[in-house]
Amino acid sequence: MEIFQLAYNNLQGSLPSDIGASFPNLAALVLFANQLHGQIPDSISNCSYLYSIAAASNKFTGLIPSSLGSLQNLAVIAVSDNLLEAKTTRDWGFIDQLGNCTELQVLDLGYNQFQGTIPISIGNLSTSLYFLSLGNNGISGSIPAVIGNLVGLTRIQLDSMLLSGPIPQEIGKLWILELIDLSNNTISGEIPPIFTNLTRMSRLSLQNNELQGNIPEQMSHMQSLESMNLSDNKLVGNIPNEIMFQSLSIALDLSNNYLSGALPLEISKLKNIQTVILSNNNLSGEIPSTIDGCEVLQALYLDRNMFDGSLPSSFGNMRSLQVLDLSHNSFSGELPDSIDYMKLQHLNISYNNFEGELPKGGVFQNITAVDVRGNPDLCGGIPQMKLQRCVTRIQEHKRNYQRIIIIVFSTIGAFACLCMAICFFACRYCRRTHKNAKSSYGMQFEHKRVSYNDIFKATDGFSLDNLVGRGAFGTVYKATMNLETPAIVAVKVLDLQNQAGSKTFLTECKALRNIRHRNLVKVLSSCSSIDHNGTDFKALIFEFMPNGSLETWLHPTACTARPFEALSLTQRMDIAIDVATALDYLHHHGTVPIVHCDLKPSNVLLDSEMIAHVGDFGLAKFLVQRDIMISHSAISTGIRGTIGYIPPEYGMGAQASVQGDVYSYGILLLEIFTGMSPTDEQFVDGMSLPKLVESSFPESIMEIVDHKLFLTNGGKQTGDYTHELDGIHQCLLTVIHHGLMCCKEVPSDRIDIQDFVKELNSAKEKLLG
Ligand SMILES: *[C@@H]1O[C@H](CO)[C@@H](O)[C@H](O)[C@H]1NC(C)=O
Ligand SMILES: *[C@@H]1O[C@H](CO)[C@@H](O)[C@H](O)[C@H]1NC(C)=O
Ligand SMILES: *[C@@H]1O[C@H](CO)[C@@H](O)[C@H](O)[C@H]1NC(C)=O
Ligand SMILES: *[C@@H]1O[C@H](CO)[C@@H](O)[C@H](O)[C@H]1NC(C)=O
Repeated sequence: MEIFQLAYNNLQGSLPSDIGASFPNLAALVLFANQLHGQIPDSISNCSYLYSIAAASNKFTGLIPSSLGSLQNLAVIAVSDNLLEAKTTRDWGFIDQLGNCTELQVLDLGYNQFQGTIPISIGNLSTSLYFLSLGNNGISGSIPAVIGNLVGLTRIQLDSMLLSGPIPQEIGKLWILELIDLSNNTISGEIPPIFTNLTRMSRLSLQNNELQGNIPEQMSHMQSLESMNLSDNKLVGNIPNEIMFQSLSIALDLSNNYLSGALPLEISKLKNIQTVILSNNNLSGEIPSTIDGCEVLQALYLDRNMFDGSLPSSFGNMRSLQVLDLSHNSFSGELPDSIDYMKLQHLNISYNNFEGELPKGGVFQNITAVDVRGNPDLCGGIPQMKLQRCVTRIQEHKRNYQRIIIIVFSTIGAFACLCMAICFFACRYCRRTHKNAKSSYGMQFEHKRVSYNDIFKATDGFSLDNLVGRGAFGTVYKATMNLETPAIVAVKVLDLQNQAGSKTFLTECKALRNIRHRNLVKVLSSCSSIDHNGTDFKALIFEFMPNGSLETWLHPTACTARPFEALSLTQRMDIAIDVATALDYLHHHGTVPIVHCDLKPSNVLLDSEMIAHVGDFGLAKFLVQRDIMISHSAISTGIRGTIGYIPPEYGMGAQASVQGDVYSYGILLLEIFTGMSPTDEQFVDGMSLPKLVESSFPESIMEIVDHKLFLTNGGKQTGDYTHELDGIHQCLLTVIHHGLMCCKEVPSDRIDIQDFVKELNSAKEKLLG
């Protein structure tokens, strides 16, 4: 037995203490989410092929056996959410021994009962380690500086423990780090200036510690940052305008510190952010009118500061804003007129000096959603608000009004004429542009079109929960829509800020209008309309692919839902055949040949049965006759495709061609079977994925193929292991040989995809005997 997989059941009991003797060939032990208890038996180290111990969310107790260190292939230890422990240096000895496991990639010990300090030997773990979690344990002491040796780390979770001392400078050496969570400890000292090389960081969580000093301007290097949480510390000084990253798309939380000064004008750069929390600081000054640059902001908390002045009228432009808390500041003046047109669901302006009449529409209709206490000069509103009536003030001003009225009336006549003239011309203009707009969407689908509102509702207002991906030209959401029948669909919203976005919409509509194939993503509908702001909005609605993209299967990260599953050889063969079939159809069987131009794993989507569908036709090209394009400007539109998959001749200005797609397909194929991405760091100085593969072909290909595919060899057991291995070897030889044929430098040397599908199918038949 090699794979023992019983995850997500309600199994009780413990592991047999002689597991090592009973299952010497065990490669993967996958038991997470059961009710298993007892110790992890020492004898497990006799399973010398063991690759993965995935036993999270059980009730295992005791120590982690030190003997695990003898397992040369061990890559995954995922035992979070158990009752495992370690107190003394001796108990922690297993970490010293794990230094021998040169393949270790994941060490997840979170949510257990580990105590004591983090052993220094952690710095001797493999540099293959990319995920390290010790969070939610009783570990104390400081973070050892040797953590800087683990240069393969992309994700560190040391949150919710008793850690103290400073953040070690050495973390700055972890240049591929994407996430670091040190929250809920008592870490002290200043935030060190460690960010110069951390350009891939996407989530920084340092909240609820005892950090002091300023927010370092150096943080500006984290140009991929999506969320930053520094709340509940003792930070002082201004909010540096350098941290207003355009990449911040989730949240910026600086609440509960001692920050002072004004809100930077650069806040308008937070174009993609959803939540900003600056509560309980000493911030002052007025809210900059540039605030409406935060176009998708949903929640803004500025409460318990010393802000003053009146609200800028630009507030009304923030059509996504749902929660606004301005309580306990010194804001004054009247609320901007636009406020009751906003989509606010919760408004707290309590304890300020707002004055004038409270609107009655929008959020102000709901007494529980609005808090206006402590503003003595506010009046009006709906009766339930129990504010003073505004009538008296109006009467006071009545006499002044009468004088003004005479002047006003005499000008009104002239003004009305002017208005009518303007309206007349404006209407004519509108009608005209409307017509133009319509004809430019001439390529419509036969299906029912959907409106912006339908999409807004189906995605819960484009909520983050429904976000499934982000690409160069848009964002993809999951949604439930009632097209012919209610169904889960994927909605791709084009980014029209990006000029190319609009163009790709048209290209994609055109490409998908007339083509239907089992291995192409099916478009269900489209939407071309205007959003609540009155700006153009375009979206495409596709079948939803529950198994996501091939990318997430080939290069799982700790955050994707299936970190420990690998694709089997037969699954990989099927995907390779599906994609080749789709290309063959595009190149040879449509009304005109279509070149996809952007074939890569993230554009290959897998449905519930793991059937591959090629998607994203935003860069597709139509060939009038084979190899001659409708558009004469491949060069002027820049190089089509994605680095790593673009054929060499496109870089030299050649036009898009079917041979170009064949090259990208070859790269994809090599990637599927070697597990190596063509953009891997090892491919520099003239080295590339095809060259690496070529240099090992055919003698040593078994060394470069993705070893994970042996863990799950297709579910087929012949009983004759050597015979079976031979079959696998033959199949891989055929596939990789053809992959290399696709990647030839000279386009005319590449093989035709049509012949290729046949070859792949016969290789698969051989594999299945
Ligand atoms: C780890 O390697 C060292 C040195 O080669 C050896 O002494 C030790 O026994 C090894 N540990 C395990 C658990 O095999
Ligand atoms: C870590 O490795 C270094 C060099 O191989 C060695 O000198 C040191 O003793 C090791 N530290 C621990 C705690 O195992
Ligand atoms: C408004 O803010 C104040 C102070 O921050 C708080 O006490 C109150 O509960 C808030 N009101 C609502 C309705 O949330
Ligand atoms: C009023 O606001 C409360 C709190 O925000 C919310 O739970 C409730 O659904 C709202 N009621 C209406 C009728 O919108």
